[in-house]
Amino acid sequence: MTSTPKKTLTLKKKPSAAEEAETRRIRSGARARQAMQMQRLKEEPTEIVAPSKAARPEKKSPPRAAKRPAKTPTGYAKPTQRPTPNPVKKPRIAGPQIQATFSANRDDLFNIFAPCPQGLEEALFAELQALGFEHVSQGRAGCHFATDWNGVLRANLYSRLATRILVQMSYAKIANEDELYELAYHTPWENWFGAEQTLRVDTSAIRCPFQSLQFANLRVKDGICDRLRDREGERPSIDTVRPDAKVHAFLNEDSATLYIDSTGESLFKRGWRHHKGEAPLRENLAAGLLALSDWDPNAPLIDPFCGSGTILIEAAWIALGAPPGIWRPFHFERLRHHDARAWQDLKAEARAHIAPEIEVPLIGYDIDPRVIEAAKANLARAHLHPDTIRFEVGNALDIQPVAAKGWIVTNPPYGERLDDTDAEFWSEWAAHLKQNFAGWSVNMITSDLDIPSKLRLKPNRRHPLYNGPLDCRLFNFQMVAASNR
Ligand SMILES: C[S@@+](CC[C@H](N)C(=O)[O-])C[C@H]1O[C@@H](n2cnc3c(N)ncnc32)[C@H](O)[C@@H]1O
Repeated sequence: MTSTPKKTLTLKKKPSAAEEAETRRIRSGARARQAMQMQRLKEEPTEIVAPSKAARPEKKSPPRAAKRPAKTPTGYAKPTQRPTPNPVKKPRIAGPQIQATFSANRDDLFNIFAPCPQGLEEALFAELQALGFEHVSQGRAGCHFATDWNGVLRANLYSRLATRILVQMSYAKIANEDELYELAYHTPWENWFGAEQTLRVDTSAIRCPFQSLQFANLRVKDGICDRLRDREGERPSIDTVRPDAKVHAFLNEDSATLYIDSTGESLFKRGWRHHKGEAPLRENLAAGLLALSDWDPNAPLIDPFCGSGTILIEAAWIALGAPPGIWRPFHFERLRHHDARAWQDLKAEARAHIAPEIEVPLIGYDIDPRVIEAAKANLARAHLHPDTIRFEVGNALDIQPVAAKGWIVTNPPYGERLDDTDAEFWSEWAAHLKQNFAGWSVNMITSDLDIPSKLRLKPNRRHPLYNGPLDCRLFNFQMVAASNR
């Protein structure tokens, strides 16, 4: 991997059309555009203005030694990755102009933000480190890390916990919407997409003083489209439903970060779900529950309220070492200069490591026969042999252990879907567990924070996390013989 240093530029205001025309002859046609892109890649620093004294570059600090867990929480062998240099440092304001950092091409080292369900940050941190990524740090509902374009592909292919992989294209301190436009205008989008792609722009913000996010979104979109039209003669059309390229703008109190969404449809959409059942868990949350429960992929796993089978299907893929992104499409495949060969090679290598079968018992029960049929259909769509998971119609009150030790990881009915008469059900279920499941680790995600008192069990751990908008806990109970201490 060659890594070129990031450009830290002070931006001039957008050049007028006349100025632009003087220096560049706008040519049409894909070939001409490509030639022009290559030319521009070489010429990129022409927009640089010497940074003012106020904008002294920050000193680089030595790379942190990355701590890696001995065992991966989501079942991967650690890939080898060459050490990466420091990721881009964030610049400071330079007087009235904005100073920005850009990522220009695929050999660059990119700052990445990988969002995840709130509460899974620590598990995602461990997963990214186990995958060999460097400079990983936890953020709010996600993790930051640094990698090259090949690493972007790997993260999409292998992360079970991330929701998407956002690749930072530019960053600047900004004071108003005009500066946001300037940032968008000066970001080299043509290296990634152009008029032949459709575009969608999304904007999110925390503590941003701008009056309207919609207007901010419009300014970003205008900046991107104006740049592409000025440079290539055409601008992409907007498609909010099935865009080829997605740009995400993140604003806070004084800065803007522009990302390309390399993923497209959220990563939790593994491509197998057809039958949903009642309130299915998102697949990355299910993988997170298994990681937080410390499930050992060689140990039996039972989900007594399995619904459409999400937790067990996710567990089967972990036990087999099947990468979650292996059977689905990604947005990076639709961008300019996508290296289809490199992507095929990456997937072929991943496929070669999928185990042909697993011995570990994976068992799911649900009281609703239609839901069990749906789970079986999902199993087939997830490229799993029908024997991989045993799905049976059954009452959680009747389940029996299949070994002296094992895991129950489950998402029982709760919240608005359960009425108070079920308190009796929970005390009965707890009695059944105490009697039959000594030695087992019982893990339940629920928004019913009173569940430990309903079960009359003292949780070993309670981990706050969100299931969509629901504030939940993952309770862990270690069952011991006769009573639970
Ligand atoms: C919240 S849903 C589980 C969703 C599942 N995690 C998924 O991803 O599809 C709860 C499930 O518990 C089932 N259920 C309710 N009472 C049950 C009982 N006594 N025994 C077994 N299953 C039960 C419901 O039919 C429902 O499918």
